Amino acid sequence: MSTKRQPGGSSTLAGRPVARIGFGAMQLPGPGVLGPPRDRAVALAVLRRAVELGVNHIDTAEYYGPKVANELIHAALHPYPQDLVLVTKVGAERDRQGSWILAQRPAELRAAVEDDLRQLGLDRIPVVNLRRLDLGPGLQAEGDQIVDIDDQLAEMIALRDEGKIGAVGISSVPLDVLRRALPAGIVCVQNAYSLLDRSQEETLDVCTAEGIAWVPFFPLGSAFPGFPKVADNAVVAEIAGELGVTAAQVGLAWVLAHAPNTLLIPGTRSVAHLEENVGAADVVLDADALARLDTVTAPGDGPRLHGTEPFREAPTA
Ligand SMILES: NC(=O)c1ccc[n+]([C@@H]2O[C@H](COP(=O)([O-])OP(=O)(O)OC[C@H]3O[C@@H](n4cnc5c(N)ncnc54)[C@H](OP(=O)(O)O)[C@@H]3O)[C@@H](O)[C@H]2O)c1
Repeated sequence: MSTKRQPGGSSTLAGRPVARIGFGAMQLPGPGVLGPPRDRAVALAVLRRAVELGVNHIDTAEYYGPKVANELIHAALHPYPQDLVLVTKVGAERDRQGSWILAQRPAELRAAVEDDLRQLGLDRIPVVNLRRLDLGPGLQAEGDQIVDIDDQLAEMIALRDEGKIGAVGISSVPLDVLRRALPAGIVCVQNAYSLLDRSQEETLDVCTAEGIAWVPFFPLGSAFPGFPKVADNAVVAEIAGELGVTAAQVGLAWVLAHAPNTLLIPGTRSVAHLEENVGAADVVLDADALARLDTVTAPGDGPRLHGTEPFREAPTA
């Protein structure tokens, strides 16, 4: 029996056991998530340290870099540990200048999966998220990039039937779109969500009821300037001070405690922050702390992180 630590405890994703604290690879490419990492050795060290600490769920995308995050994951971790669940997302590409090219059509989804397979050196990607553009406004799909979700899911299911992907997830969808996707056997939902942005609480509730993993992106408020940072919140900082832990840890511990089907994928380019984030697993928030944190934003309140760009990974500077 494995004695490997499971930070945050053990859960399942696509029928595979995963630790509840995972890692998001979006911060590894260079400034603005574009280009080579600022320090390649550090980026590789972050990935290796994550696995060493028991992280076995890593989120990536071909368009992080582009290609950079996937390449770093392959360089740092291949041949992959057997228990590692790599998760990618399809629905867009980036050109050499970093501009977004939407890629929502079924053939484009398939081509993106093929790219991920090649870049990651896999025969099958354990989970692929269909990254939709529903939580607009901002740049929106136009023309032939407005694709019916049924047509997209048919392609994702075909890829799953062919064994190229193990399971299908969905990202950036409101509740009605999630409901339409449920019959496809969705295993996870990635929407922006944190202590400061609880606008997706209803969608989370449906995931909980349906036994679908809730994998919020921006759990700390993202790296983008202008987005409220969870660690800057006064209540969060106060509780962190009382507990002798960091504010980021309190923010992550709240998300973890809030719903049992939550899997965290905080992003960082720093080994120290990675260790801190994994350490959030050991932060115990008592009923009083949880009640105070719950009042920071009520469900439906808080700044909306959705919608001014099609993909939140777009650099703002
Ligand atoms: N499905 C989607 O459309 C979608 C969209 C966006 C992101 N994602 C995924 O979700 C993951 C998480 O989102 P994210 O990385 O954008 O945002 P995030 O996890 O909310 O925040 C990342 C930011 O927090 C900082 N940070 C991390 N740990 C910290 C700590 N312990 N103390 C202080 N600051 C800390 C990072 O800076 P440092 O690097 O300096 O630590 C970075 O600036 C991504 O990495 C990506 O894999 C998915």
